[in-house]
This record gives sequence, C-alpha cells and structure tokens, in this order.
Amino acid sequence: MSIPQTYDFIDYLVAKKTIDDRSLNRTVWDRLQRALVDHETIERLRVLEIGSGIGTMIERMAAGPLMRRSSMYTAVDINPDCTRAARLRLSRWAKRLGFAVSREKDASHLLEADDTRIRVDLNTGDAYALVAETAPHSCDLLLAHAFMDLIDIQTLLPGMMRLLESGGLLFLSLNFDGDTVLLPAIAPDFDDRIIQLYHRSMDERIVGGRPAGDSRTGRRLLVTLLQCKTEILAAGASDWIVYPHHRRYPLRESYFLHHIVHTIDEELAHHPEIDPEHFKTWIAKRHAQVENGELVFMAKHIDVLARKTGRK
Ligand SMILES: C[S@@+](CC[C@H](N)C(=O)[O-])C[C@H]1O[C@@H](n2cnc3c(N)ncnc32)[C@H](O)[C@@H]1O
Repeated sequence: MSIPQTYDFIDYLVAKKTIDDRSLNRTVWDRLQRALVDHETIERLRVLEIGSGIGTMIERMAAGPLMRRSSMYTAVDINPDCTRAARLRLSRWAKRLGFAVSREKDASHLLEADDTRIRVDLNTGDAYALVAETAPHSCDLLLAHAFMDLIDIQTLLPGMMRLLESGGLLFLSLNFDGDTVLLPAIAPDFDDRIIQLYHRSMDERIVGGRPAGDSRTGRRLLVTLLQCKTEILAAGASDWIVYPHHRRYPLRESYFLHHIVHTIDEELAHHPEIDPEHFKTWIAKRHAQVENGELVFMAKHIDVLARKTGRK
C-alpha cells in the first residue's frame, strides 16, 4: 500500500487484530481456559475488560474461553469512538461465530448459541474512575489487553485487584517489555538512538497528571503482582513479529506498520536531541521499506495470568 495521507486510531486497532491473534502466548491462553473450568459452578461469570478498544478481545473470548457457559461481559474504554466502533462491529463478528444477537433495552447485546450465553455491555469510561467507583469483589475475571503499558500500574493495579472476587482471575496480555526492532538497519547507531528515545518517551509520558505507561511494563507487572495477594498461574512472551510474504504484508498489516512509523514520527519529530533533517529522512526510509515489503518489525511483550489469593 502507498503511504497513508491520514491516520486513524480505529483503523490501527482493526489492523492490529491479526498481529495480536498470532502473538498471544498460547500457554497462557490455554491456562486461562483451564483456570476458567474451576469457575464452572459460577452461574453467570462476571467479566470486566478495561481499555477494550474496538472489542477484539470480546471476540476472542466468545470464540473460546466463554463458550458453553453464561457470562456477563462489561467492556470499558475511555474513547467514545472505540465504544461506537465496538458496538458496530459486534453483531457482525458474533453472527459469523454462530451467535444469535439481540439488543436489550439498556443497549447491551445478548449473544446466544446452544449452551453459550454472553451479555455484553460496551461503555465509555475512565479505568481510574471505574475502579474507584465499582464495588469490591464484583468481578470474576478481569482483562486488559495492550493497555497496562499505557497507565500508571502503581495506582491502577491495586484498584483492579480490589474489584476481583477472591480466587478471581486477572489476565493481562500484550504488555510491552522494552524492545522494539525495525529491520533492515538504516544507520545502526541512529536506529538505536531513535528506539532509545522512543522508549524514553513512553517512560516520561504524563496523561491527566499521572504517569501513563512504561517501556518495561511486562517485567514490572510480574514483580508488582508478586507483591500483591496473587498467584501467577502462567506468564510468557507475546511478541509482535510482522514480516512480508513475497514482499506483501497480510491483510491490513502494512497499514499497521505505517501507523507505527507515524507514531514514532509524532513522538520524536521535535525532539531536541535529534537532528530534524536526519530524522525526516529516516522516517521516509522506514515508510518506503513498508511500501516495498522490506520492513520487519518486532516488539517484545509479556502475557500474564494471575489468581487473587486472599480477600483484600
Ligand atoms: C492500545 S489500545 C488497545 C485497545 C484494545 N485492547 C486492543 O488491543 O485492540 C489502548 C486502549 O486503552 C484505552 N484507554 C487509555 N486510557 C484509558 C483509561 N484511562 N481508561 C479506559 N481506557 C483507556 C484507549 O482509548 C485505547 O482504546
């Protein structure tokens, strides 16, 4: 594809789905499915997802771990465009998976197929406000996918743990963990410098007066979870690896790559430690590598599944 003239976050999330699908750590995912068997006696599993974007994790859960049971899935994202897109997409994928879809009076969706029944509520809201306002022990499974590296873990994670029932599960997937690779090299020293400053920009990001992310979220999560009343049931790598086949990227993955290059551009274009002309040329070369089906992109992530062990 040619270099996009404009960039759209929803399109980025759509393009990211296939990459996330193949990146999710299978061992951690399988352990989640097995751990949910222990919750089979729960009449209606209460699931909460925060930072749910366009709802791709609901689709994955409906196609696997939530099958053959009844559940109530509440998904919250701060961006109303995401909520709107998630609502628009839901019927389409749910019907494709074989669900009958009905709308309830309060705008939630009911997905039904054989012995599976999932009530889905898609809301716009802020995760910090949500954890402060929601009653403790009100959920059995708490999910966040590609989200924990955008927030202040020290503030939000204890609040998330409070929402979980004792014995409840916490599944945190695609947590960025400190490595970004763009190949082939353009100028190795300059390449390294860009990535170093890009990671630093994640560490220094402030949103709403709070730290918003960390370039080593994956490993910090593991340590923080060990300090809470949790048992880590499984953890593993979920790295993104995007590469061309015969110089073409599958589906919308070239858009995803252009978007990543664009994000680096937005973040560093006015950075005082980078020569602007050199950087502009570097960005143009990276876009050209995508266009020519030459770029390989990798980003290190960690998935973790934990169980709350005691009442807090
Ligand atoms: C990288 S996106 C991931 C979205 C989705 N989980 C996915 O992987 O497709 C992060 C999402 O978190 C949402 N977000 C960021 N800060 C938030 C907050 N404080 N409360 C709720 N959602 C938030 C953003 O709007 C965005 O949709």
